[in-house]
Amino acid sequence: MDLCIIGSGYVGLVSGACFAEVGHTVICVDNDLRKIDMLHRGQIPIYEPGLEELVLRNVAAGRLRFTHSIEDGVDNSQIVFIAVPTPPQADGSVDLTYIERVAREIAGVLKPGQYRVVVDKSTVPVKTGEKVDATIRRYNPTAEFDVVSNPEFLREGCAVPDLMKPDRIVVGSASQRATDLMKRMYEPFQVPILVTDVSSAELIKHAANSFLSLKISYINAVSAICEASGADVEMVADGIGMDRRIGRNFLNAGLGYGGSCFPKDVKAFIAISEELGVPFRLLQEVERINAGQLDVFIKKIKDALWVLRDKRIAVWGLTFKPDTDDVRNSVAIELVNRLVAEGAQVTAYDPKGMEKAVEYKLLPASLKLAHSPLEAAEGAEALLLATEWKEFARQDFAAVKAAMHTPLLFDGRNLLNPKTMRDMGFTYHGVGRP
Ligand code: UGA
Repeated sequence: MDLCIIGSGYVGLVSGACFAEVGHTVICVDNDLRKIDMLHRGQIPIYEPGLEELVLRNVAAGRLRFTHSIEDGVDNSQIVFIAVPTPPQADGSVDLTYIERVAREIAGVLKPGQYRVVVDKSTVPVKTGEKVDATIRRYNPTAEFDVVSNPEFLREGCAVPDLMKPDRIVVGSASQRATDLMKRMYEPFQVPILVTDVSSAELIKHAANSFLSLKISYINAVSAICEASGADVEMVADGIGMDRRIGRNFLNAGLGYGGSCFPKDVKAFIAISEELGVPFRLLQEVERINAGQLDVFIKKIKDALWVLRDKRIAVWGLTFKPDTDDVRNSVAIELVNRLVAEGAQVTAYDPKGMEKAVEYKLLPASLKLAHSPLEAAEGAEALLLATEWKEFARQDFAAVKAAMHTPLLFDGRNLLNPKTMRDMGFTYHGVGRP
């Protein structure tokens, strides 16, 4: 089928590449000319495992192309996906200006007799579909189209496999014609498709992300009880996770959730619930626990080092999770900023995140960046692991210990084995484990 995706960020670009991979012809649209230029040159603006090969292969096969023209995209596609950012506003509610603008732009280029399915793939508050529908109708009263909600559940760092083999595809639609086209489009993926009304589909996305955030805060709250009682949160998570009703996924205690989705979506869901007059107070507690994880971690460091001023601290990890270069709302970035604010001399290393952290000016001026984990550790009085990149677990820890001033190790993601580290002579502190 002929598809167009408006917005070539994480969701748009990965979706476009995967839709092309299964045989559709896809046009990715973006108003950022620099991004489109890069893509024309075969350069991928984001780091995502497997994405580059996928994009290059499908461009070469003639199934994927890039343009800045919405008209080009809408003219040549049966289904038009909207995958533009929906950033948070100061009060936690969602800024829908990009969605509204795209709705108007689509209205402006829809030609008479040209039926299109307009699909919202961005994470949006319930009832946004109705507003997109009304907006397109207002600006183009004779346009023939249906609006569908099709939330995306891919995770950064494993976006390609998540998109190629999702647990489910949700299609929120009030039109049989649109539903049929969506089913045909997703047929090659051979995964269950849940068809709902538009509002339910929109809600599924916020409810899913909030539930996963709740799981993380739950295990983080349990980790505090483990620390107070001498139990091991990893064993507790294994034990409860083996119950299939609970599941082990998203029960990793650590520094808390970050990134461009969970913090924003939990806030948005709280704002949506309040606006609808049914405040979701449980989610406020989820946020409170999440914010507290970093405080507890910094307190542990202070308990060991006493005053942080002038202390040399190494930090491994800057991205909000491994296998991505995304540093937005990263707890690791907040950590280095708080350490530097207290006068610590911090040297950090991240396999993929340093460039973007510098580009977006997220790092304090005095922070030094190292070329390797070992270089970061040189002369350090404490080593902090803030993101669980596999590469960190594979380090030569004898060399790391020899390079450090004092072998004090704080593992904020429970990546390393406490016994192994202690046997090597490190003073090891994890999260919620003895
Ligand atoms: C999340 C959801 O998992 C996706 O399903 C969704 O599509 C996406 O948001 C979105 O709304 O676009 P993502 O933010 O890419 O995906 O990353 P996750 O793997 O969910 O991790 C989010 C945060 O939770 C990270 O900071 C991670 O370190 C943290 N986390 C995750 C934990 O602290 N513990 C865990 O057990 C799992």
